[in-house]
Amino acid sequence: MKDGPYSFEIKKPNYIPSQYDNHITRHLSNMAGQYLDQDDFENQLAEGDNLLYEVYELKRPEVAGEILHGISIVHPGKVGQEYYMTKGHYHTVLATAEIYYTLQGQGYMVMETPEGDWSVESLSPGSVLYVPPRWAHRSVNIDPTQDLVMFFAYPGDAGHNYASIETQGFRKLVVEVDGSAAVVDNPRWAPPESR
Ligand code: F6R
Ligand code: ZN
Repeated sequence: MKDGPYSFEIKKPNYIPSQYDNHITRHLSNMAGQYLDQDDFENQLAEGDNLLYEVYELKRPEVAGEILHGISIVHPGKVGQEYYMTKGHYHTVLATAEIYYTLQGQGYMVMETPEGDWSVESLSPGSVLYVPPRWAHRSVNIDPTQDLVMFFAYPGDAGHNYASIETQGFRKLVVEVDGSAAVVDNPRWAPPESR
């Protein structure tokens, strides 16, 4: 971690930051229970533990005045009809936002609030997505051949809360239907008042 100002580069073809502190890798086995098609999940896992997504982080102190930033890369693929995606999370400090800038690929950001409001925004090169405070977020790669690459930035004190998403997933799923991406209801999702 640097003390003073710094700059670095994020460039084609691989978009790996010219400097970073952490390289996080998430494999199929890290997504247990997240995909609807459990049979395909188990079958694929038996063949090998594929790398689904990666995050390159620049470390900053985890305090409110800092801005954590880095690159996320979601690889192409599907489990059943559901595309490869991140686990998704709320920020532990719910009142913290995040901003994403898409560098490469095609995808969706699936979002929802604790009250059950939902939103799905498309992601393509040059698009800027603002995730307001209180919105859980998950990125989904809908391109069968290209990585989805995004730059992200969020408050240093935000933290990550994966627990509520792990329980039943997001309200909406992004699945392939007749060769195109479609947003459908998640049958495992229950409204907040009935949990
Ligand atoms: C940070 C953030 C992204 C994600 C990354 C991986 O708050 O939203 O950097 O951490 O896209 O997703 P998760 O953390 O859900 O596995
Ligand atoms: Zn986040």
